[in-house]
Amino acid sequence: MKTLTIFMCLGFALASSVHMYNRRDWTKLILTHHWPKTFCMIDQCTTNFSYWTLHGFWPNVGNMCNSSWHFNASLIEDLLPEMKTYWPDLLKPASTQFWKHEWEKHGTCAAKDEDLDSQHKYFSKALELYHKLDLDGVLKKSQIVPSEKYYKLADLEESIVSSFGVTPKIQCVLEAKRAEVQTVGQIEICVDKQFQLTDCEKTTDELQITVNEILPYLLHNHPGYTVCHPSIPVYYPPVTSAPGGQRPFQF
Ligand SMILES: *[C@@H]1O[C@H](CO)[C@@H](O)[C@H](O)[C@H]1NC(C)=O
Ligand SMILES: *[C@@H]1O[C@H](CO)[C@@H](O)[C@H](O)[C@H]1NC(C)=O
Ligand SMILES: *[C@@H]1O[C@H](CO)[C@@H](O)[C@H](O)[C@H]1NC(C)=O
Repeated sequence: MKTLTIFMCLGFALASSVHMYNRRDWTKLILTHHWPKTFCMIDQCTTNFSYWTLHGFWPNVGNMCNSSWHFNASLIEDLLPEMKTYWPDLLKPASTQFWKHEWEKHGTCAAKDEDLDSQHKYFSKALELYHKLDLDGVLKKSQIVPSEKYYKLADLEESIVSSFGVTPKIQCVLEAKRAEVQTVGQIEICVDKQFQLTDCEKTTDELQITVNEILPYLLHNHPGYTVCHPSIPVYYPPVTSAPGGQRPFQF
């Protein structure tokens, strides 16, 4: 009888927290950069992008918020050259599929905020933040450049923290056949509703209090990416055919 009561309470708590999760508005936007070379290592593409490109601009709460709000590339026609350069579809460079997916899954949720309530506002804000942050420049300033030598995760973190004053989330790919290194793949930088920089990660204590905060992170993780491990050397792979001709590298 006692056990039954406990289960009922647990069930109720779970049901109401899921309810809360769906009802809550987002509080933070995650600007996710990916390293094209690492992406193509997982997804079997080839790329010559020699800088961090955009993966997404994701509210921390919500997915597919308005299925009747369709992506329409002609609404962002003026942004397309920039999109192709800084937010490219690494799998199908000539297609608009990637942006359609990002809009429908994340943009329609971001659009609950009036600053982002159109496709043009959403995509142009992401591009604006991307340029303002200049992740490539930030890492370069700390002598962190694509290289055959390995870095410490703490050096990458320190570089970003010292420039932005907030903690990023850095994700890596671990390969079973080369478990002695991890390859850096994604870097997330977060902003609040006023587009001011804010920490991406909560402390473990806070995470334990609210499972709702963890869910979006889990859902957003690209398969193959995990939060980088602090004690494994980090590989930041050079691009095979970068302009200026870096030396070819085989995975
Ligand atoms: C990649 O290669 C294509 C075709 O060769 C070229 O148009 C494009 O500018 C290159 N991109 C980068 C980032 O070098
Ligand atoms: C969903 O999108 C459609 C098309 O833009 C719009 O007319 C409608 O008001 C939106 N619904 C909500 C709940 O935002
Ligand atoms: C896309 O937007 C343009 C410009 O507003 C409009 O003329 C066109 O009808 C829209 N296309 C669709 C399929 O909604």
